[in-house]
Order: sequence, then C-alpha cells, then structure tokens
Amino acid sequence: LISYTADIASSLQHAIRQGNFNKVFALTDTNTWNLFHHIFKNIIPEENHIIIPAGEQHKNLGTAELVWQELKNHHADRNSLLVNLGGGMVTDLGGFCAATYMRGIAFMQIPTTLLCMVDAAVGGKNGVNFNTIKNLVGTFHDPAAVFIYADFLNSLPEEELKSGWGEVIKHGIIEDGDLWNIVLEGIPDIKDSKLWRQIIEENIRIKESVVQQDPRESGYRKILNMGHTIGHALESEYMKNGSYISHGHAVAVGLVVEAMIGQELKLTSNEATKQIKDAVAKVFPHPAIPDAWIAEMITSMQSDKKTINGNLHFSLPAEIGKIEPKVEVSVEIVHKAIVAYNVHAASL
Ligand SMILES: NC(=O)c1ccc[n+]([C@@H]2O[C@H](COP(=O)([O-])OP(=O)(O)OC[C@H]3O[C@@H](n4cnc5c(N)ncnc54)[C@H](O)[C@@H]3O)[C@@H](O)[C@H]2O)c1
Repeated sequence: LISYTADIASSLQHAIRQGNFNKVFALTDTNTWNLFHHIFKNIIPEENHIIIPAGEQHKNLGTAELVWQELKNHHADRNSLLVNLGGGMVTDLGGFCAATYMRGIAFMQIPTTLLCMVDAAVGGKNGVNFNTIKNLVGTFHDPAAVFIYADFLNSLPEEELKSGWGEVIKHGIIEDGDLWNIVLEGIPDIKDSKLWRQIIEENIRIKESVVQQDPRESGYRKILNMGHTIGHALESEYMKNGSYISHGHAVAVGLVVEAMIGQELKLTSNEATKQIKDAVAKVFPHPAIPDAWIAEMITSMQSDKKTINGNLHFSLPAEIGKIEPKVEVSVEIVHKAIVAYNVHAASL
C-alpha cells in the first residue's frame, strides 16, 4: 500500500495504469498545485485538477461540497480515481470526499508535508472539521496507494517541518528503538536526505503497526493520542486568546505535561520524563501556561470527544517504549501537573 519512490511521476503513472480507472482526478490546495502540479503532466488532464484554498480553516463541508461538485461536473463515476496531493488538510478532505462520493471511489494519497507523511496519510482515517470541532465528521476508508517522496520536504517552511516533528517525537516514545535515538539528537538538517528517509520509514512502520493492531480505535490505537489531550486544549487556548502555537509544538508541550501527569500518578519513570523533556527541548521552547488558562483547558478536555462521562482519559508513557492507552486521571492531578510543568518551564 505504501511505497517509497525517487520518481513520483512515474510511480503515479504506473499505479494509475495498473488500476484501469475510467477517469482520474487530482486534488491539491493552491500551494501544492503551484509547487507540484508538474508531476501530473501527461498523467492527469488539467481540466480534472481540483484546487482548493490552502489552510485548516477550509477543511470543512463547504470545501467538500465544492470537490463533490467538481467531480460531478466532470462526470466522475464509481470507477474514477481521486489523487490527493498535499498536506494533511488535503489528504483528510480528499480522502473524505472520495469515501463518500457515490458511496466511495478509489483514492491515492501523495503527502507533501512531514506531518502528513508520518501521520495523516497513514492509518485510513479522513474527515473534515464541523462546528469548530476538529475531524468531527469523517470515515475510515483506505487509500489504494500512498506514495512517499521525501524531496517534497525541501520546500516546506521550517515551522511546518517542526509541526510534523511533534508527531515524530510521539512515535519515537512509542517504540524505544532507532527512532528514539534519532529524536534525542533533535531535528536533523533537511539536506541529510538519507536520515530523513529513515525517519519517515520508521515513523510509518510504528504508526502502521499500532493501527494494524486496532484499526477502528477501540482501545490500543488510542496510544497515538499521547500528547494530544493536553496539546489540543493548549491549541484552543492560544486560539481563543488571539495568538498561535503550531500543532506540533502544542503536542510536544502536551507530551511533557502528560509525562508529568504520569509522574504524579507514579506511573511514568523519572528517566522517561527526563528524556521526553530533553527531546522536546531540543526543538521547541517550553512556554509557560498562564494560570487563567488551566481551568479553561480542563473544561475543554472534558468536552473533548475522547473523554467519557466527563472523566479525563490519557495515554501515558510508563517508560520509553511502554505506553498505557487509557488511564483515568482526576482533574486535580491534571491541574497539579500543569503547575509543575510551569515551574519546569520557568527554570529553563
Ligand atoms: N487522518 C489522520 O490520521 C490525521 C493525523 C494527523 C493529522 N491530521 C490532519 O492533518 C492536518 C494538518 O496537516 P498539515 O500539517 O500537513 O497541514 P496542511 O495540509 O494545512 O499544510 C500546511 C501548509 O503547508 C503547505 N504545504 C504543503 N506541502 C508543502 C510543501 N511541500 N512545500 C511548501 N508548502 C507546503 C500547505 O499548502 C499549507 O499551507 C490537520 O487537519 C489534521 O487534523 C490527520
């Protein structure tokens, strides 16, 4: 399903020929179209290129409707293919449109951001945001193929590269192996293409192995939420207060705070917490979390779709390589851990 390629255009052309599709469509955002539409030359006719505005704010049903409309206008049928080229916004929305158009047509994912290569394009989840809730509407629907072409990263702004690095740290924690040793050294030079290729492969292998054990997220797959319960709540506080933190940065801070929650529970070892703090500090600053935000964050975590009956559940590391998927945590402990994180952040 996932193939690594040094020649994206010929790999795509080959896969399309093998699939014997009636019609082939490409979905990109404005940026990925400008940068990379040349790879579709002689493969996907330009009238079948669907271009949507870039940015998370467009990952919604309105944009999905435009895509369905374009597919309809150009007579897409059940034997058509949609090729999604872009970051997680494009692959999530494109996967959702393909999964729902005529009850599901084939699609292929070509991720162009680090986050998308190591996370969004792997695992079969897709969707759009609805009523300000991220990914509230979506499906599980596997792509016919995913192509990994690491050279796409060369044009990615540093901030976007770092945003993907949050997930890389998380995958490193899941398996105490080569990836973790790389992560402890911080983010490598983008020119080190051999190392980047190894990083992407290790990430995909780790995520796929978790997904295979629990494709529909009934239990074990929740370990992939590590860092995200705190991370999402922090992201919303920044947003509410008119400022910004990248998704990866918020997840990285979330990994540190959640390790500290684990410490409060006597679940996470001191060594694991220290290593997580070090790995995060190599790439991300540790911003203090204002006192006034803590209660707000707890409220938003309680209304998160990942909680049950208002109780807070976390996936917490016991050690590097050993994660507990669903630990129930009291509000008091979460509060205490954020305060302890603030003391730590101030001492850096
Ligand atoms: N389905 C899943 O399992 C899953 C997992 C993690 C994240 N996600 C989703 O992924 C989304 C975030 O993905 P993202 O971080 O890739 O964001 P994104 O798709 O919005 O891309 C970020 C920006 O980079 C631009 N861009 C893309 N590739 C580029 C390149 N090679 N060079 C220069 N610019 C480029 C895009 O146009 C965009 O402006 C979120 O919506 C999130 O919910 C999904």
